Amino acid sequence: MEKKLAQKKIVWLKKHRLFDSKFKVFEKQSKIYIPVKEKVSGAIGIEIQPISKKPKSIDEVLRNILSPKELSSVVASFDIIGDIAIIEIPDILIPKEKEIANAIMQIHKNVRVVAKKQGPMEGEYRVRKLSIILGESRTETMYKENKVKMLLDITKVYFSSRLSFERKRIALQVKDGEKILALFAGIGPFPLVIAKTKKNCEIIAIELNPIAVEYMKKNIALNKIKNIIAICGDVKEIVPREYKNYADRILMPLPKDAEEFLSIAYEGAKNNAIIHFYTFADIKNPFEDAKRKIFAHLKKENIEIISERIVRPFSPARVQVAIDFRLN
Ligand SMILES: C[S@@+](CC[C@H](N)C(=O)[O-])C[C@H]1O[C@@H](n2cnc3c(N)ncnc32)[C@H](O)[C@@H]1O
Repeated sequence: MEKKLAQKKIVWLKKHRLFDSKFKVFEKQSKIYIPVKEKVSGAIGIEIQPISKKPKSIDEVLRNILSPKELSSVVASFDIIGDIAIIEIPDILIPKEKEIANAIMQIHKNVRVVAKKQGPMEGEYRVRKLSIILGESRTETMYKENKVKMLLDITKVYFSSRLSFERKRIALQVKDGEKILALFAGIGPFPLVIAKTKKNCEIIAIELNPIAVEYMKKNIALNKIKNIIAICGDVKEIVPREYKNYADRILMPLPKDAEEFLSIAYEGAKNNAIIHFYTFADIKNPFEDAKRKIFAHLKKENIEIISERIVRPFSPARVQVAIDFRLN
């Protein structure tokens, strides 16, 4: 059959929903073979294999192994930090965890390690226990975000890739010459993104976990940043001792207990300083809940709320909230 005629036949078959797109049109010994879904008068029957399509999503790989509910719980709870995927495996899915990990590696070709959560974030350092279920035996990785490289060990420090928008949002607000107190700085994601975005500012980054501070120092060097000073210690001691009335802007990314540190932030703030306060709040009334915590520690008349934002869901009943306010 000549090509023009074949083209016409394909158009006709498609119009009548008889063309079978699971197969390829092919030419062999000057004959053109067109796949059809059912018998068409004049066609001869030959059998060929369907084209094997590469799966494009984890859903596609796991569809036959997990129920839709199991599938959505696995997909919703997984994060990739650098080349490590972190997943949550409910007890009933433990027998299938290797297959789940395999599916992740099959779809995310850059993932070299799949680790599973062994519990919630714990302790003062907000660190989570993890165990590797597939891939290389390591927990250190290099993560890139907002043009910043960050080295970290997912079992030794807190880190969340889900705050990347939040970091950029704050960085874009920083003005020339600002002095910033980055409390609870971890491995430095907030200060690093700010410093990369705005060179003309000074950032004091304070963190309690000595391993996180080591990583923060490495990350400052890695990104050739000159305007962050990383300090290891408790903000309750360091701010009143060394940074009273210092800051134009204070970051408080410790959503679990941030309100307990509001009086410390107050001590570190200049008049008119902006505070970025993070907390977990009731999903039904998140902003009122968050503001109640602020007003319990600082005088309402001294506070001008600038913005209120839901950062991310935290649990079925709670969300993480960011309240930006000015201290007068
Ligand atoms: C939720 S993490 C946030 C870390 C980092 N800002 C980030 O976004 O990845 C809170 C951090 O605060 C640190 N931290 C807790 N209490 C502290 C304190 N009293 N003084 C300084 N850092 C503290 C913890 O070690 C932890 O690294």
